[in-house]
Amino acid sequence: MKRLLLGWVALVLLSPALAVPSAATGKTLYTQNCAGCHGANAKGGVGPSLKSAATWTAAQFKTALTQGKTPKKTLSAVMPRFPKGLAGGKGKVDEQFQSVQLYLKKLKP
Ligand code: HEC
Repeated sequence: MKRLLLGWVALVLLSPALAVPSAATGKTLYTQNCAGCHGANAKGGVGPSLKSAATWTAAQFKTALTQGKTPKKTLSAVMPRFPKGLAGGKGKVDEQFQSVQLYLKKLKP
């Protein structure tokens, strides 16, 4: 019983280190990887507004970012592909995309 409790305490203490998707992480990743083309507010620039992308499923969003395929079309080569995620191959890729999408939902482009 004590051991179980210790396990929980360790888990709670470690959880910030685990990749839990959050809008705050998404903001950092978006600013570093996307804002240059899609604008700080995601309303568009070189790339289009991400208003519709904010409403896609997590799987659709991931496919767009890794393969350049949206529910509607294949994106031009101007839009980079991010098969290794948004942190130079480090960390959990799925959580990184989910974080960016959480941030987009908050931005409401
Ligand atoms: C070098 C500029 C550039 C960067 C950096 C960039 N994009 Fe794009 N993105 C584009 C362009 C240009 C398009 C439109 C391509 C087309 O329509 O063929 C696009 C299209 C998209 C679309 C499809 C939108 C739609 O509704 O069809 C999504 C989603 C998207 N980008 C997300 C992102 C995210 C998230 C990042 C950061 C991880 C990012 N982009 C980084 C240029 C960029």
